[in-house]
Amino acid sequence: MIQIRDLTKSYGTTTAIKDLNFTVNKGEVVGFLGPNGAGKSTTMKIITGYMAPTSGSVTIAGFDVFENPIEVKKRIGFLPETPPLYTDMYVWDFLAYVAKLKGVEKSHIKSQVEMAIERTHIQSVSHRLIQNLSKGFKQRVGIAQALVSEPEILILDEPTVGLDPKQVAEIRDLIKELKGKHTVVLSTHILPEVQASCERIIIINRGRIVAEDSLLGLNRKMTGNHRIFVRVKNLNENLLSALGGVKGVVDVKKGDAPGAIVLTTENDETIQENIATKIATSGAGLIEMRAEDYSLEDIFLKVTAEGELR
Ligand SMILES: Nc1ncnc2c1ncn2[C@@H]1O[C@H](COP(=O)(O)OP(=O)(O)O)[C@@H](O)[C@H]1O
Ligand SMILES: [Mg+2]
Repeated sequence: MIQIRDLTKSYGTTTAIKDLNFTVNKGEVVGFLGPNGAGKSTTMKIITGYMAPTSGSVTIAGFDVFENPIEVKKRIGFLPETPPLYTDMYVWDFLAYVAKLKGVEKSHIKSQVEMAIERTHIQSVSHRLIQNLSKGFKQRVGIAQALVSEPEILILDEPTVGLDPKQVAEIRDLIKELKGKHTVVLSTHILPEVQASCERIIIINRGRIVAEDSLLGLNRKMTGNHRIFVRVKNLNENLLSALGGVKGVVDVKKGDAPGAIVLTTENDETIQENIATKIATSGAGLIEMRAEDYSLEDIFLKVTAEGELR
């Protein structure tokens, strides 16, 4: 659906993005994650045709963004960093105006505006002036204007930035509802954002892609092995050596807390069960057991500190 080839953009002597390559398939929800200044907004402005790259190409549903801008704009709804809201307009009128600009047929404008209002849950403010809305509602109106022409693709640049936690949760729910109906690319510098909403993650740092995978895949690349954390009532050396003999256990160490054991294991679905059985038959008394996966935070720190992870 979206194909990005060798995309480079320089602002004078600053290279904002360098040789980016990635593809987004139809129906995917992809997170574009990176710290401030990584090049997220630059990439999104180029994908949506708002800015030309220095070199490289973008095609949307087979149309080149710069050769067929009209075909491309028809297929994309864009929420830029600063939502393009005419604050002295009423919400309903503004959405009708955007629908008209986007080429929605006159006879469909009313129903399209109603659809966008309904899907972003802004019925209660649809007859208010945009300037009087809270930040959370303004952001929803920004998403509504991206949705109003019912585009196949939605590009959302930091959709939750500056919102309070309740509003963040509401926007996340909204993005989940978009899943399946649209191809979505959302950018963020906040890790839980992509964990909550995205199937695939592209991590960008200093204008380059440093990792690209599913959340699960990134976790696997980070570890290779899994860690399992166990706590027992009666910890003794016999138990430690017995656990070392369980198939798939690579390493056994005492943990910091009383009765704590940290096991490094191969990625095997039956291993937790085998460990639990071993502890139960030893009479050590299992108190707690959990698998410790790496968080996206760990991954992010690792890839942005060490460069590529592929
Ligand atoms: N209009 C501009 N002129 C000059 N430099 C810019 C401009 N826009 C962005 N940059 C620079 O390009 C880099 C990437 O910026 P941006 O794409 O906004 O990153 P992000 O959205 O990930 O925070 C940064 O170093 C930023 O300072
Ligand atoms: Mg940005």
